[in-house]
Amino acid sequence: MSDGIILQTQFGSSRNNDPSIVSIPSATSIPSLVTKKNKYPYQYVLFGIFFLFLLVILILVAVIVSKIVTYSPIPIESTTTTASTTTASTTITHQSSEKNELSSLVDSITLEDMLIHLRQFQSRAIGTISFNRTIDYLTSQLNKENNFLVEKYYFSVPQSELAEYPMLMALPNKSNGSIFTYPKDFIPMERSAEAKNWSFIDGRPLSVVGRLGCSLDDWNTTKEDDVALVRRGNCTFAHKIFLAMNKSVSAFLIYNDGLTKERLSPLNNTRAPRDNTLPALFLSYEAGMQLILKNSSRIYMRLEFRSLPPTIVTNVCADTKVGDKNRTIVVGSHSDSVSAGPGLNDNGSGMAATLAIALNLARLLVHSNYGINMQSRIKFCWWGGEEAGLLGSTDFVRRAKSDGTLGLYSVNLNFDMLASPNFFFGIYDGNAADNTTTPERAIPGSSRITRLFIDYFQRNHLPWDYTEFNGRSDYGPFLAEGIACGGLFAGADDIKSQEQRDRYLKMLGSTLGGIANTIHDPCYHQKCDTLENLNTFVYLHMVKAAAYAIDFLAQLQDLNQWLYP
Ligand SMILES: *[C@@H]1O[C@H](CO)[C@@H](O)[C@H](O)[C@H]1NC(C)=O
Ligand SMILES: *[C@@H]1O[C@H](CO)[C@@H](O)[C@H](O)[C@H]1NC(C)=O
Ligand SMILES: *[C@@H]1O[C@H](CO)[C@@H](O)[C@H](O)[C@H]1NC(C)=O
Ligand SMILES: *[C@@H]1O[C@H](CO)[C@@H](O)[C@H](O)[C@H]1NC(C)=O
Ligand SMILES: *[C@@H]1O[C@H](CO)[C@@H](O)[C@H](O)[C@H]1NC(C)=O
Ligand SMILES: *[C@@H]1O[C@H](CO)[C@@H](O)[C@H](O)[C@H]1NC(C)=O
Ligand SMILES: *[C@@H]1O[C@H](CO)[C@@H](O)[C@H](O)[C@H]1NC(C)=O
Ligand SMILES: *[C@@H]1O[C@H](CO)[C@@H](O)[C@H](O)[C@H]1NC(C)=O
Ligand SMILES: *[C@@H]1O[C@H](CO)[C@@H](O)[C@H](O)[C@H]1NC(C)=O
Ligand SMILES: *[C@@H]1O[C@H](CO)[C@@H](O)[C@H](O)[C@H]1NC(C)=O
Ligand SMILES: *[C@@H]1O[C@H](CO)[C@@H](O)[C@H](O)[C@H]1NC(C)=O
Ligand SMILES: *[C@@H]1O[C@H](CO)[C@@H](O)[C@H](O)[C@H]1NC(C)=O
Repeated sequence: MSDGIILQTQFGSSRNNDPSIVSIPSATSIPSLVTKKNKYPYQYVLFGIFFLFLLVILILVAVIVSKIVTYSPIPIESTTTTASTTTASTTITHQSSEKNELSSLVDSITLEDMLIHLRQFQSRAIGTISFNRTIDYLTSQLNKENNFLVEKYYFSVPQSELAEYPMLMALPNKSNGSIFTYPKDFIPMERSAEAKNWSFIDGRPLSVVGRLGCSLDDWNTTKEDDVALVRRGNCTFAHKIFLAMNKSVSAFLIYNDGLTKERLSPLNNTRAPRDNTLPALFLSYEAGMQLILKNSSRIYMRLEFRSLPPTIVTNVCADTKVGDKNRTIVVGSHSDSVSAGPGLNDNGSGMAATLAIALNLARLLVHSNYGINMQSRIKFCWWGGEEAGLLGSTDFVRRAKSDGTLGLYSVNLNFDMLASPNFFFGIYDGNAADNTTTPERAIPGSSRITRLFIDYFQRNHLPWDYTEFNGRSDYGPFLAEGIACGGLFAGADDIKSQEQRDRYLKMLGSTLGGIANTIHDPCYHQKCDTLENLNTFVYLHMVKAAAYAIDFLAQLQDLNQWLYP
């Protein structure tokens, strides 16, 4: 409960700073006026009646005015469907809607809309039952609004566990230093292949990959059947494995970079891509350096798995009943499941944001004629648990492909980790999509969505940054199919630079500048990722920015023309 109180206070102060909130004069000022006038009771009574009369008229006028405003078109207009990137910034006029609470999705969002759900997530225990409870909570919330068609999709995820004690050794094992121990020195990556029946006498040659192994050039000394050793950094694990597979190596070893205290141990729960065929281990910084400094030339590995019964995972989606199905906007986030900590920022925040936006939209559809201007259907989705990785969205896309409905989906917006304490306002950079894996069709639309988010932050005098757009989160499967994507990210285990901190401090003031040379979320993947870990300032703006983009896209006369000019 005390969490709630702390956050309420923060909310209170940020609310006062919000120019869009009109302060209501306190009623206590009226009695004090009365006491001054009580020398003249009759005059006072007359004055009182007159005053009441005035008040009634004022209220009537207010009601009529608000009715008129409600029926007038929504300020975000898609008057032009011309394909120009500046469309976003020229046609959105939110300022004028600030006084009408019900006319805009952006204005409807309050911090409490998200916190109410996050408190539920916080109280759940770890394990599969808690994942199911989360799904039940989501569905019950969505079903309360009979404005949605709620659907669950199930799929199974194969499970396995280590069958034997895994071994990693530098040959010949002359000293203790050449035998590495699990899990202190290395941890197998998820979806690693097995390493069976390697020769203990010969092992396989070790090849240290140049630089960070992010381009094929870095691998030019690596030969077929080598065991490749590469340092963490600059590009995704998946990209490095992709290059390793291209070189037909026999195993993939990646070691931590030792840049900070948190980056010494081997990382647990890292994932190789779905099509991985290599045995893949994550090594500690020390183990990696030892292999390099001792000039180890050959490696022995043993890694075997035993399969377990598959886990059934659930995706939940809720569709608006209004809007054109043929150009559906998919708004997704990752639903949290099994984890070391409560995971409140790490996808709890994205999940609650999507839920808050969905429920606020449902209320707008009931209490205003918001629906009249909604051109596109919106599909809110919560992708299956963390164990599944991108499997939730991958399964959804695969299913849609096979039943021929993929063409209904025009765009995917993805929201994950929106409340990082040492935050940045990160926007997926549509222009930075990897042009070797992303169909060209998706680029113009993705870039326009990037502009749309930039627009929100600029209008609100907030700093912002581009963040990588590498398909690593749940939008990946959509992007790979050529569907335009966009999203926001407030930071995880990357470091806030001095430059970034200075820029944020200059625009936001000292309390919101953050700390330089520290990671964006020091509680990333840890027990301390609780309600107190959330930065409510960044959170509220991120969710409003998300609502802003949804608002805009849903009301475009021709969404597909805008996204795919
Ligand atoms: C969670 O839900 C799935 C799908 O309905 C079910 O197969 C599974 O047994 C449930 N797990 C628990 C622990 O209740
Ligand atoms: C090498 O490792 C194997 C297996 O752990 C062990 O049996 C053997 O004694 C080691 N040899 C040396 C020289 O340490
Ligand atoms: C290996 O470690 C043990 C105990 O940790 C030690 O007694 C032994 O001398 C070490 N051997 C070598 C070759 O370093
Ligand atoms: C890695 O994480 C899983 C949970 O996802 C846990 O069961 C396991 O014990 C962890 N392994 C290590 C070595 O920390
Ligand atoms: C293990 O390797 C040896 C020689 O490298 C080979 O003769 C044997 O067939 C292999 N066993 C299996 C099960 O692959
Ligand atoms: C990592 O990326 C940065 C910026 O993209 C680049 O300047 C640097 O050279 C890269 N480092 C390595 C070792 O590849
Ligand atoms: C490998 O590529 C690097 C540049 O990335 C180059 O300097 C080096 O000479 C190349 N080595 C070989 C063996 O081709
Ligand atoms: C490796 O990549 C190169 C260049 O992209 C390509 O020509 C080659 O066919 C690839 N090899 C394999 C085995 O995938
Ligand atoms: C590793 O090789 C380098 C040069 O090839 C040499 O200078 C160094 O002494 C070697 N280190 C060990 C531990 O053998
Ligand atoms: C959606 O597309 C299908 C097939 O292209 C078409 O038959 C249908 O009329 C379209 N629906 C709307 C509302 O445009
Ligand atoms: C979702 O949360 C879990 C647990 O905190 C984490 O391991 C996983 O990486 C998160 N997924 C994304 C896409 O952030
Ligand atoms: C892909 O991007 C790279 C680097 O930005 C660029 O050099 C290259 O020309 C692009 N290729 C295509 C086909 O657009």
